[in-house]
Amino acid sequence: MDPCLIVYYSRSGVTATVARAIAEVCGAELEALRAVQPITGVPGYLRAAWQALSGQPAPIAPLRHSADAYPLLLLGTPVWAGHMSSPIRQYILQQRPYFRDVALFCTMGGSGGASVMQAMAGLCQREPLATLCLREQDVRAGRHVDAVRDFAASLALRRLQRGGADGQAAGQQAPLQTPASSAPGGSAVSGSAP
Ligand SMILES: Cc1cc2nc3c(=O)[nH]c(=O)nc-3n(C[C@H](O)[C@H](O)[C@H](O)COP(=O)(O)O)c2cc1C
Repeated sequence: MDPCLIVYYSRSGVTATVARAIAEVCGAELEALRAVQPITGVPGYLRAAWQALSGQPAPIAPLRHSADAYPLLLLGTPVWAGHMSSPIRQYILQQRPYFRDVALFCTMGGSGGASVMQAMAGLCQREPLATLCLREQDVRAGRHVDAVRDFAASLALRRLQRGGADGQAAGQQAPLQTPASSAPGGSAVSGSAP
C-alpha cells in the first residue's frame, strides 16, 4: 500500500489502541494529536463535551508529520456528545487542503459513531474510502482485531479499485505548525466501504 498516515486524538487511550492496531495491519505511521489545553477532570470533561457539541475546534500542538506527504490519511476520534472531538476537528480544518484519500474511524461508549463518520466526511469534503466505529468496551476486551482487519482489507480493495491516489494536493505543502488562531468549525462493531 502507498504511504499511509493515521492521525488520531485519544483522551483515555481507546482510540489510540485502535490506531495502533490499524497501523500494525496497514504498516502506517502514527500522528497522535495533543490538545494544547489538557482535557482532565470534570471541568475538562464538560469543556470537551461543550466544544464538541457546539462544533468548536480546540488548539492542537505542532504536528510531526506533513499531511501532504501521504496519499492516504486515516483519521480517528472518540465520540464526544454525539460529535467528533474538538482536536480532530481542528486538524481537519487546518490540514484539509492537503488531503487526498481519507478513511475514518471512531470509538464510543455506546452510540453516535455513524453520525460522527458522516460529519467528519463532510468536514473533510471527501467521501471516505472506508469507515469503522467501535465500542469502547469491545476495544478494551480486545474484540476489535477482526474489525480492524476487515477495515484494512476493504481499504486496500478500494484503493486498488481507484487505482491509487489522484494527486489532487500535489505541489502543496502542509504546515507543521498550528496556526495561532483556530479556523471556524463548522451492533458492537460497524464498518463500511461506500
Ligand atoms: C466529553 C465526552 C463525551 C462523550 N460523549 C459520548 C457520546 O455522546 N456517545 C458515546 O457513545 N460515548 C461518548 N463518550 C465516550 C467516549 O466516546 C469513549 O469512551 C471513547 O472510546 C473514548 O476514546 P479515547 O479513550 O480514545 O478518548 C464521551 C466521552 C467524553 C470524554
